[in-house]
Order: sequence, then structure tokens, then C-alpha cells
Amino acid sequence: MPKITVGRDDKEKEKHGIKGTGMVGKHLVGENEEAHQANPIYFDVATPHVMGVFGKRGTGKSYSLGTIAEEIHDSDISNNLSTILVDPMGIYWSMKRPNDRAHGLLDKWGLKPKGYEVKIFIPEGKTEEFRSKEMSYDQTFTLNPAELTAAEWAMAFNIELNSKTGILLERVISKLDEKFGDDYSLETMVNALDKFEFDKNTKRTLENRFRNAEEWGIFGEESTIDQFMNRGEISVIDMSVFGEMSSGWSVRSLVVGLLAKRVLRQRMAARKLEEMDEMEGIKDNEMPIVWMLIDEAHQFIPNNGRTPATKPLLRWVKIGREPGVSLALCTQQPAKLNSNALSQCDIILSHRLTAKQDIDALGEIMQTYMRHDIQHYIDALPDKTGTGLIMDDNSERIFPVQMRPRKSWHAGGTPDAFEE
Ligand SMILES: Nc1ncnc2c1ncn2[C@@H]1O[C@H](COP(=O)(O)OP(=O)(O)OP(=O)(O)O)[C@@H](O)[C@H]1O
Ligand SMILES: [Mg+2]
Repeated sequence: MPKITVGRDDKEKEKHGIKGTGMVGKHLVGENEEAHQANPIYFDVATPHVMGVFGKRGTGKSYSLGTIAEEIHDSDISNNLSTILVDPMGIYWSMKRPNDRAHGLLDKWGLKPKGYEVKIFIPEGKTEEFRSKEMSYDQTFTLNPAELTAAEWAMAFNIELNSKTGILLERVISKLDEKFGDDYSLETMVNALDKFEFDKNTKRTLENRFRNAEEWGIFGEESTIDQFMNRGEISVIDMSVFGEMSSGWSVRSLVVGLLAKRVLRQRMAARKLEEMDEMEGIKDNEMPIVWMLIDEAHQFIPNNGRTPATKPLLRWVKIGREPGVSLALCTQQPAKLNSNALSQCDIILSHRLTAKQDIDALGEIMQTYMRHDIQHYIDALPDKTGTGLIMDDNSERIFPVQMRPRKSWHAGGTPDAFEE
């Protein structure tokens, strides 16, 4: 059977075959109910990509993101990769369990249920909440507040930098940076407020914001996010505890923004060393290539407005190829995703979409090599879960696909109220 590999051009296919790929599904040939599953579709995990995973509610996006994580982990080069799964809703803990309920279906695909040793990370200050709700986790993480810029704080607090509070914030941060560099705590930030001549109300407002930030439970003496970059590991960052907070998405974005900055910086440094090694004929990588998979990505990198994650993620999108960082952005509404990020996607997996603005947004970026209107391809998809289109800029092809069943358990399923 001829092999379909997405994410690679002809030269790369010839050179590597299917080494460094994962099987994500099968090519659908024929239209609607006549469609049948043909060749497996292999997906390149070895080189950097910006991937979009789209589809309306309940069409299998989060499920497919999990499939991609499984394939990265099971690939023959997984020791050179590390996966960070940004989990805003707290659904990926279930990857630890084998997907036993799909035993029969998996069998048809020649696959077996399998649990993965994912590591679930939660904010250090939220362990009590997890324990009281009997939600399990493996480890905690903290961020160093001194690593945040005044602009990032302002975005997280949802205040304008040129408002009174914003001006005071900027002064406080710049003074502390000057005095302590990257080494100060939230408590120091609160205490520093007294040293500034400023009207009392503004000082109170800002103090309240700082106190609020303590409640987020993410700050400690140092950033411990390097632990997410271990070889061959899947790190799940469970941020579901911020679900009920009004600033929940700002806080999640703060975490992702800092993480994206840190990973990129480290990969850039590692890349330099790797290039020197390559000149000497050594081929080991100094640090794994990082895949960051982000569910509900429009919340982190929206088309309207900015979050603390916007700039760092756009840097991944623009320059990530060179240092070796990959991104998968999962959303219901591609039209709501930052348009610069959307236009840089080189692989798109789109489950069914119905909103015109989303279909138009897709059509705009992928039209060059499509024989038909994107709507035509969507209409031809059989009405089955896990079907979709894979659009690949690298091979300039579009493939209708049936995504494979998951080896590990998916916890994001649709509940129903029928009695058993
Ligand atoms: N390839 C597949 N094979 C079998 N079942 C699937 C497949 N893809 C998705 N499903 C099932 O479809 C349901 C919805 O999937 P999922 O949770 O991924 O939706 P979603 O697109 O992320 O939805 P939302 O937008 O609400 O987050 C789940 O119950 C899942 O088990
Ligand atoms: Mg989902």
C-alpha cells in the first residue's frame, strides 16, 4: 500500500520513510455513506509544525489532540521529543487508563488499549482543592512572579497600562526589577507599594490585585516549569481549577505565556549547541524537541484582544521552525483564533464545521492547492464521529480522514441523561 505522510515534502518522505511519524487515521475514499477507509495516514512528529485542530462542538477535537499525544509518545523517536498538553478543562488525566470500552473497535484497527504514564501537574497552591474534590495529580508547579513584565501583569489583571493603577504597576515593577532582578516575591511587591508617593485609592486597588494573585496558587520562589520538558514524557498541565474564576483565562494564559517563553529560550540555546555538535559529526540533541498541544486555543491566542500568551505563542508560530518547537492549536472556532497564527498553520485537521465565518477562515488559508471549495469537501464527509479533513501545506494535499480510536481513555465524552 502506498503510504500517505502528512507534514513532509517529497524529499523528506524519500529520505525518512515513515520513521518519526505516527499513524493518526485512515484516508477516506468516496463520498458520504459510500466512503470507505483506505490507506493509513502517517503524521510527521519529528520536525517542527504549527498545527490547527478544528471542528464544531463535540466533533472530536480534544479526542484527536489526545491521539496526537499518543502518537508522539509511541513514535520511534519519542526519546527526542517531549509533549506538553495544556489542559484547561482537566480532561487528560484519563490518558493513564487504557481505553477498554473500545476494545472491539481498536482490534479492527490492529491496536490495543493502553494506558500512558502521563504526568499531571497542578498549581502548587491548589493541592487542597484537588484533594477535597478527590481529583488526582502527580506533581505541582510554581512560577516566579519576578519573571513577569508590567505589561503581562496588566493583561492578567485586566487593567490598562496607562490607567492610574497601570502607571503605579509599571513603576513598582520597574523599581523591583532594578533592585532585585529576577528575585522577588508577591509579598515584596505588596510591601513595596508603601514606598511610592501615589494616591491612596490607587495603592489599595493595586494591593488588592496583588493579593488576588496570591489566591491563584501559581506563584512560588522560582519557576519550576523546566520539569515539563523531559524526554519521552507527556506533561499534562491541568488548569481546570481556574474554571470558576472570572480571571480564569487570564491566569491560564499567564502560565502558558511564561512557559512558551521559557521553552523557546531554552530550545534556542540548545539549538546552538546542537549545531556545533553537528559540525563535529555528533547527532544527539541537547534537549528534546518540544510539542505544545493547546486545547481551547482561541482563549490563549484570540483574534480579538491580547492575553499574556499572545506574544510568546506568536513567536513560536513565527520562528519556531529554527529552534525546533511545535504547536497544535485546538479550537471550535478557527475564525476566533489569532489570524497570524491561523495563517501560519502548515497542517490542519478539521472535523466538521458549520459556521460560515469558520469555513471561510479555513478556505482562505488553504485554497491554493484545493480542487474544490472547502465546503464541498466538508459536505462529502460521512456523518460519523472522528471524520474530518487533513490539509497539508507540506505535500500540498487534502485528505478526508477517519481518525483512529484512542488507545487511552478519553474523559471529555458527551454525557447524556438517559437512564441505564
Ligand atoms: N476518532 C474517534 N473515534 C471514536 N470516537 C470518537 C472519535 N473522535 C471523537 N469521538 C467521541 O466523540 C465525542 C466528542 O469528542 P470530543 O470530546 O473530542 O469533542 P470536542 O470536539 O473536543 O468537543 P468540544 O468542542 O465540546 O470540546 C467523545 O465522546 C469521543 O469519545
Ligand atoms: Mg474539546
